[in-house]
Amino acid sequence: MARQRVLTGITTSGTPHLGNYVGAIRPAIAVSRDASIDSFFFLADYHALIKCQDPKRVHRSSREVAAAWLALGLDTDNALFYRQSDIAEIPELTWILCCSAAKGLMNRAHAYKAAVQANEEAGEDPDFGITMGLFSYPVLMAADILMFGAQRVPVGRDQIQHVEMARDIAQRFNHHFAEVFTLPEAVVDDSVAVLLGLDGRKMSKSYNNTIPLFQSEKQLRKAINKIKTNLLEPGEPKDPDDSTVFQLWAAFASPDETARMRREFANGIAWGEAKKQLFELVNAELAAPRDVYQRLLQDPAHIESVLQRGAERARVYSRAMIEKVRSAVGIAAIS
Ligand code: TRP
Repeated sequence: MARQRVLTGITTSGTPHLGNYVGAIRPAIAVSRDASIDSFFFLADYHALIKCQDPKRVHRSSREVAAAWLALGLDTDNALFYRQSDIAEIPELTWILCCSAAKGLMNRAHAYKAAVQANEEAGEDPDFGITMGLFSYPVLMAADILMFGAQRVPVGRDQIQHVEMARDIAQRFNHHFAEVFTLPEAVVDDSVAVLLGLDGRKMSKSYNNTIPLFQSEKQLRKAINKIKTNLLEPGEPKDPDDSTVFQLWAAFASPDETARMRREFANGIAWGEAKKQLFELVNAELAAPRDVYQRLLQDPAHIESVLQRGAERARVYSRAMIEKVRSAVGIAAIS
């Protein structure tokens, strides 16, 4: 059987946080080390431009995301690790796909619809502040995926629709021109937790409730101490299933340790004590990678060289694919 091809992108518009780590980075690193899978992981910096018009932030985020993935042990010999903007064939494919993707399909994209709805609610013109980048976002993402013949695309729930659109776009192209593209499938791993943030809502940079992945030990302790809890006193039983502290614990602990903490909650562990143990647990997993991360940030040339090597490997695929696509649509040397 052919090897499985897995691909996912990371938008470079923020600093990696614990939610990214548990939800995306940790599982991806496990995939990168699986010799039976061909994996593709990339910095989606063109996607970052859709949400973020702050050049410094986009640039800094690319460095931080790359350093974080490397520090956490991404296997870059097995996996391909590259930056989207280093692959010139991706925007080229985006244009070609734009010419067969239905506008009506894009009208249904959640991110776009949410922006229109927000405008309507605010009494603005429906198009207010909406760029062509936001509108065409799913086509760029389709190009990322279809370029490398990805079969499985691990994503969060909010991205399932985009992968389905990529599939749609591929099907339409294959039908009209030639069987060029593999049809991708979104993979959402339900065993991977969607972490809650400091305020108990989903941990997300848009809610400003994140715990950064690689802040100092002291800052990590402080952040964990800030997690919102209820007012139950030491000795009063606490509900683990209604607790951000417990949820974080479960994302880092072994099943045995999780069961033990569940009992501690029933026995009325004090919040301060639970948070202290949580800090120790999280810190034990992150302490060594944190040092590597700090060293990598001091050596940007090394990060850049890893990305360049990844881009060279990725271009072997993207050049072959763009050849096929060009020829399918009739762009070829005069003959
Ligand atoms: N849009 C995705 C996100 O915000 C990131 C992304 C870009 C991506 N291109 C991709 C994910 C291709 C999977 C496949 O999370």
